[in-house]
Amino acid sequence: MLSYQHIYHAGNHADVLKHLSLMAILHFLAKKSKPATLIDTHAGAGQYSLNAAELKQNLEYEEGVARLLNHHNNVSDPLLATYLQQVITSNQQGFYGGSVDIMHNWLREQDQLHAIELHPRAFTELSSTLHKDNAHAYQKDCFTQLNALVPPIHKRGLVLIDPPFEDKCEYSQVIQAVSKANEKWATACYAIWYPLLSERAGEKAMLSDKMREEMVHLPVKNAWSIEFRVHPNQEDVGMYGSGMLILNCPYQVDTAITDAMLEAAKLFNTSPEQNPIQTCWHKAPM
Ligand SMILES: C[S@@+](CC[C@H](N)C(=O)[O-])C[C@H]1O[C@@H](n2cnc3c(N)ncnc32)[C@H](O)[C@@H]1O
Repeated sequence: MLSYQHIYHAGNHADVLKHLSLMAILHFLAKKSKPATLIDTHAGAGQYSLNAAELKQNLEYEEGVARLLNHHNNVSDPLLATYLQQVITSNQQGFYGGSVDIMHNWLREQDQLHAIELHPRAFTELSSTLHKDNAHAYQKDCFTQLNALVPPIHKRGLVLIDPPFEDKCEYSQVIQAVSKANEKWATACYAIWYPLLSERAGEKAMLSDKMREEMVHLPVKNAWSIEFRVHPNQEDVGMYGSGMLILNCPYQVDTAITDAMLEAAKLFNTSPEQNPIQTCWHKAPM
């Protein structure tokens, strides 16, 4: 189902969590010069124009990263500061950079980037964003294409999985795809975004929890999650926050993301009593 378009949601609170987490993992990979393979299964368009009517329509950008930008001079956390600097640089060129844009900026000569996107419009925009020789775009179903791409030649790497979750079958597709990929490429880090949905979402409300619980039992080295509950009154909204599940989470990436999100949550005006940032080691590192 391809009704979802990320331009309506670009730069919202979920993107803040997801893109900060992505940058923390990329910083870890950058510590060694050994090549890495990056796979973005749901790449989207890459760059989202700040002038697009769709981006302005729901005020998600305004209520998301724009709130943080007002405070960027006073930010103390290094990861949050780096993320905001990247957003400012993209804003100066008229867009907000999505996951694949962040990966493409980071990409070194020795690495490979595989970006998968099915939607025709998003794919066209994605293809024009990727200009490096070692960046590849595929207009394919991501679950089939992920299976075709793993294992890559390089042992180190990241698979970012960021589905729209509009269709409830996507939850089980993610479990199957990660399970299969991890069998073939156990040294990769798998970072999966998921929504936190209130009872308004009906039967979908519990599916993120179920998906996470199944995945932490896969034969991975460790499993860690972080959730950002941005809306204090869950009943008032459909999606009250979101989470990242990181399987084979690299050393100290958990603390880097947590510290950045604790500062970001304050700038979102969430009250600490509401415990907006919740983290959990489902399977602790050995
Ligand atoms: C949440 S958006 C991605 C946003 C992007 N990761 C970012 O952070 O900037 C999800 C994208 O997945 C695409 N998509 C949905 N199902 C897909 C599938 N089975 N295979 C490939 N792409 C798919 C949608 O068209 C949409 O662009």
